[in-house]
Amino acid sequence: MRYFIDSADLSKVEYVLERFPCDGVTTNPAILARETDDPAKALREIRDLIGDTRTLFAQVTASDYDGMIREAEILKSNLGPAFSVKIPATAEGLRAMTKLAKEGYSVTATAIYSVQQVLLCAKAGADYVAPYVTHIDNLCVDSAEIVGNMAKLLAYHAPRTQVLAASFRVPEQVNRAILAGAGAVTIRPEMFDMLIESTGTDTEIEGFEKTWKEKFGKNGISDFFK
Ligand code: G3P
Repeated sequence: MRYFIDSADLSKVEYVLERFPCDGVTTNPAILARETDDPAKALREIRDLIGDTRTLFAQVTASDYDGMIREAEILKSNLGPAFSVKIPATAEGLRAMTKLAKEGYSVTATAIYSVQQVLLCAKAGADYVAPYVTHIDNLCVDSAEIVGNMAKLLAYHAPRTQVLAASFRVPEQVNRAILAGAGAVTIRPEMFDMLIESTGTDTEIEGFEKTWKEKFGKNGISDFFK
């Protein structure tokens, strides 16, 4: 299971990274436009922050084959080694994915809505396919069912390609995508705390503290080992 942080905001990425076991950072043109004035600087800073082994994802902004290839080369030479180039699931995108995958790039097919997009992108060599869960739900279609179909078909036809579910608003969407078979998810920084927090856990901790203090007062457990 892989968890990625969907953000280009350095301080938010840092907050999550220090606490949560994450595998990297995903960005897209909208995230970069919203969160920075200098995309190259922001992406380089994220690379420095996450180190060489966690994966950094950045998306091409061109929509034609030649432009996608040129941008992929520039992104990889500036942001490698653990870098995945995001290419939208279009006909031009498929052509670019095929070439880039053959050249050894990690490729993420993105902005995905349908099972056929998944199968075609997987066949073109994509390592990840990224369905946009909330955007699919907004069409009054059950995204978990679609993600489940995607995962099932990939496991059968293209097991090296993983579903990287994206665009979540509530934790239940994350649960449902993972239960349906997504092997990776990318989540806004603000949502990570929501995934770990539980009022039940808080109540348990209060109970431990109360019972401990009643007997041992201010001493912590380490005080007994002095
Ligand atoms: O990674 C996909 C994501 O950034 C787009 O979805 O809906 O959160 O903007 P959304």
